[in-house]
Amino acid sequence: MTKLKTAVLISGRGSNLQALIDACGQPDFPAEIVLVFSNVADAYGLERARKAGIPTAAISHRDFATRDAFDMAMDAKLTEAKAEFICLAGFMRLLSATFVRKWQGRIVNIHPSLLPAFKGMHVHEQAIAAGVKVSGCTVHYVIPELDSGPTILQEKVPVQPGDTADTLAARVLEAEHRIYPAALKMIAEGRVRLEQDRAIFA
Ligand code: GRF
Repeated sequence: MTKLKTAVLISGRGSNLQALIDACGQPDFPAEIVLVFSNVADAYGLERARKAGIPTAAISHRDFATRDAFDMAMDAKLTEAKAEFICLAGFMRLLSATFVRKWQGRIVNIHPSLLPAFKGMHVHEQAIAAGVKVSGCTVHYVIPELDSGPTILQEKVPVQPGDTADTLAARVLEAEHRIYPAALKMIAEGRVRLEQDRAIFA
């Protein structure tokens, strides 16, 4: 089986990365992780990758004068690793339009809300402040606009009375770990693709 060569971009603890590593460890999973890239040298996710024997690269955005220059350096690493597809997993950098356009249709993100609700930061605080009874998570294609782009998969998660941002985050995270591998499987099997600005499901 030819597996989809996937790079995962992280900035932190990498629990979604771990879910992807575990899924890719299954012999019949249609994707493999060829690179874990971080803009933060001591991101715990890099440790997870090393433990799994996956190549890693870390380049600090602070070493570059512009967003474009950093994105070009990152792109060079992705090309070197022969990555065909990118999963953003807690990657805390805005991407330049040039980079996103180059990878259009081949880059996805996971966000801890039911988009288009609650974009940006402090997502669970936003959900609790809004008083919603249901939140969740979304895997979506990346477009230049932040936390936008066609949805691939979503899972609903109840908001319980007395939830704090932390308790809600923990419940949503469990769902994230289910839908991210499921979405990557769909993509790698060609069951979803991006056409213009729409996700097309086979
Ligand atoms: C997740 O909640 C993800 O949805 C968001 O950032 C968080 C990353 O967590 N984009 P982790 O590093 O995967 O544990």
